[in-house]
Amino acid sequence: MSLQSLRLHAIKKTYNQADKINTIFSNVSFLFQKGTSYAITGSSGAGKSTLLHILAGLDYPTSGTVYFNDEDYTKLALAQKEYYSNHFFGFMFQNPYLINELTVLENVMVKGLITGMAYKECVRFAYTLLEEIGIEDKAHNLPATLSGGQQQRVALARALLGKPDFLCADEPTGNLDKTTGLQIFKLLKYYQEQWGMGIIMSTHDQTVFEQMDVILKLEDCSLKVERNFCLTRQQE
Ligand SMILES: Nc1ncnc2c1ncn2[C@@H]1O[C@H](COP(=O)(O)OP(=O)(O)OP(=O)(O)O)[C@@H](O)[C@H]1O
Ligand SMILES: [Mg+2]
Repeated sequence: MSLQSLRLHAIKKTYNQADKINTIFSNVSFLFQKGTSYAITGSSGAGKSTLLHILAGLDYPTSGTVYFNDEDYTKLALAQKEYYSNHFFGFMFQNPYLINELTVLENVMVKGLITGMAYKECVRFAYTLLEEIGIEDKAHNLPATLSGGQQQRVALARALLGKPDFLCADEPTGNLDKTTGLQIFKLLKYYQEQWGMGIIMSTHDQTVFEQMDVILKLEDCSLKVERNFCLTRQQE
């Protein structure tokens, strides 16, 4: 089984702050499909991270429905939710959140071991990803000995382990210099093509978002389609 689509229907997210309700976004409806790359842009505080967390089932909307394939996510049993999030998603957080006591290689392997991947296969997969991402020389280091950008790359390898159907990446090139950022981005596009992976990425980086299939913008509490290259290509 795989996750072919993620659908948001009339999503609203609010936070209660002191005596007032802070609306982050409302009435957001959109269909995300496996195999397609989406950029979510918008100013700082617009709700990009919040939306990514909701899409991957890491947070709940205040109202509205998130459909994984055609199933209402909120109505799934806990075990099923865990299965979906472990098997179908790779999540790269805005901060790397690596486990300090584990080596780089072990950090990348964790999800494979949780989901029952054979140990040797898991080592091979993790090491190959580290090689492709250009950080294999740090495989046996502890995260604290790596720079911020290097930690970000390890977080990317961790998110890719297990070939997720959707990679949700929160500003994955944010801590990287331009050249490394573009290298990482090209790698993501490579995996999108090789694995048919969907990518949903929040980013401020114009060089990056210009190359995504669909560009979305969170603005004035709603999600707008800035450009849809998939539609353009279909019309060509
Ligand atoms: N747990 C929380 N409690 C209250 N308000 C929150 C909480 N988490 C986020 N917010 C608010 O929600 C809004 C959206 O936050 P979010 O982190 O999604 O923005 P963002 O678009 O990712 O910003 P950035 O580009 O700076 O990462 C912000 O105004 C933030 O203060
Ligand atoms: Mg954010």
